[in-house]
Amino acid sequence: MVRDTDVLLHERRIFEPDEETIQNANVKDWEAEIEKGKDLEKYWAEKAQQFEWFQKWDKVLDDSNKPFYKWFVNGKINLAYNAVDRWIHTEKRNQIAILYVNERGDERKITYYELYREVNKFANALKNLGVKKGDKVSMYLPMCPHLMVSILACNKIGAIHSVVYSGLSVGAFVERMNDARAKILITADGTFRRGKIIDLKKISDEAMLQCPTIETVIVVKHTGNPIKTSELSGKEIFYDRVIEGEPAEFEPEPMDSEDPLFLLYTSGSTGKPKGVLHTTAGYMVGVSTTMKDIFDIQDNDLWWCTADIGWITGHSYLIYAPLLLGTTTLVYEGAPDYPDPGIWWQIVEKYGVTKFYTAPTAIRHLMRYGDKYPNIYNLSSLKILGTVGEPINPEAWIWYHKNVGKEKCPIMDTWWQTETGMHLISPLPVSPLKPGSATRAFPGVEADVVDEEGNPVPLGKGGFLVIKTPWPAMFRTLYKDEERFIEAYWKDIPGVYKAGDMARKDEDGYFWIQGRSDDVLKIAGHRIGTAEVESAFVSHPAVAEAAVIGKDDPIKGQVIKAFLILKEGYHLNTDLIEDLKRHVRHELGPVAVLGEIEEVQSLPKTRSGKIMRRVLRARELGEDVGDTSTLEE
Ligand code: WTA
Repeated sequence: MVRDTDVLLHERRIFEPDEETIQNANVKDWEAEIEKGKDLEKYWAEKAQQFEWFQKWDKVLDDSNKPFYKWFVNGKINLAYNAVDRWIHTEKRNQIAILYVNERGDERKITYYELYREVNKFANALKNLGVKKGDKVSMYLPMCPHLMVSILACNKIGAIHSVVYSGLSVGAFVERMNDARAKILITADGTFRRGKIIDLKKISDEAMLQCPTIETVIVVKHTGNPIKTSELSGKEIFYDRVIEGEPAEFEPEPMDSEDPLFLLYTSGSTGKPKGVLHTTAGYMVGVSTTMKDIFDIQDNDLWWCTADIGWITGHSYLIYAPLLLGTTTLVYEGAPDYPDPGIWWQIVEKYGVTKFYTAPTAIRHLMRYGDKYPNIYNLSSLKILGTVGEPINPEAWIWYHKNVGKEKCPIMDTWWQTETGMHLISPLPVSPLKPGSATRAFPGVEADVVDEEGNPVPLGKGGFLVIKTPWPAMFRTLYKDEERFIEAYWKDIPGVYKAGDMARKDEDGYFWIQGRSDDVLKIAGHRIGTAEVESAFVSHPAVAEAAVIGKDDPIKGQVIKAFLILKEGYHLNTDLIEDLKRHVRHELGPVAVLGEIEEVQSLPKTRSGKIMRRVLRARELGEDVGDTSTLEE
């Protein structure tokens, strides 16, 4: 979202780390670490030593075929082995790996050893169902240990997982499943949400009617929502049944460093979601290094990342990085304000969470209830806080710092993307912080702000955020669409990765991210493409043409404002508005939060027929429309 960056740049407060933070820090000297990172290959090779490799790599980075970079060439490794098995031979064997808590107050503690057994059983079960290395397995599951076990079991076999966020609608679900050509779907009888059970099985059933590649559906009994065995179709089988009698040992598949690890779909500028493909070894090195140094991970930490596993943050920093570091990771199934807006802080107090990672939209949402709730609970266990997903406005930063961090926890504002796999711009705990700035590139990463030709812009001026050197957890391509991979990220500004964000850099070299430069909205931290929303509108019988833009919203960051040309005979009355809202929600799921809908007689278009959303945005915000020479009417 384009914010008033002059206001941001005039944010002059600087928060220095305290003595205790510096003493604990894994990295004590930020500058020196950035210096060290300049020798890319040496820096990342050192970080890769933490793992057990079946076979060491020959070369750290192969950049002979840009932008198809390869990392840790010819290395052989298994992620799940390193995230789970490795710990059972250490003192972490009986440590809790996963602490599951839900809104009803149920909890489940799974030690590394228990996780090891469960993952192996399920890996054996999947193998028996015919899953082989390279096969695609989809998951449509709640935030629960089964999802984590499923992901790790895929890793063990070398199968590629494709998690579909359980808040997506049937249409989006089907599109993702069919693009991936998944062989297996793992789903559940439901998920807990605000005192109700959302029936995921029903949504899966509807989706399955349109997903011909699925051979087997595995159903987890999670909520107790009754599904009788007799109701299962011939393809379906309960999770409990498939693991019955399976051995608790499994020989992990030695994966090549560059073997695909997972697919995760995200929105781009066009309607079709992008299948972001991540591979194995570089991803492991990238996510574990960033989490360790940015959140200063130590033994005894209790880590809580509130992101949904259906998004990249959940993949990288709820499951993978914490387990690769041997940490205890808390997974919470529920909303931040149910049964009341103190629930998160109650959990922090009860379990003694030490590192807490969430999104600005959640902070703004909780801020609305005032200072009361975080101050009811004892939050003194917290040491470091984090945010991700969109720019954090200084006001929310200060609220978080004061009420949650009690002015002693540094806030790590981490900038990154589904595509980057790992944090790329972020402070370390020892960094001086400026509220609203993600500070500088992580060691071993080089970022800049440039103009359309790729020339650096003067300090304080807005431009395109680019990454100038490859990083290990970078995505390797868009699934089945190399052309789009190059077009969307590598072509406009040759030689660098174009992130799709606008940013500014200040006199200290700190980055201030302004929001997306493309037609992607950020609603409550979730990416959604304007084209996806427009096509959802147009699929309604009343709509002839649609154009949507993002409009600032104090809590969600952005919401959708739609301009519609209606078909003859239709008028935009309250009933139609309600129906349109229902329709878009059905097509896209609750992530598509609609603000206003406006009826128009025409839309601004270029001569080639492209909608000029920029013109709509300017009109809406009362700003200068700028260059309209390409405008048709
Ligand atoms: C935005 C989420 C400002 C940005 C991990 C990026 C941020 C998009 C920040 C990626 C941040 C993420 N400050 N903006 N700290 N973190 N963004 O793929 O616009 O869901 O391009 O990945 O989120 O969203 P994605």
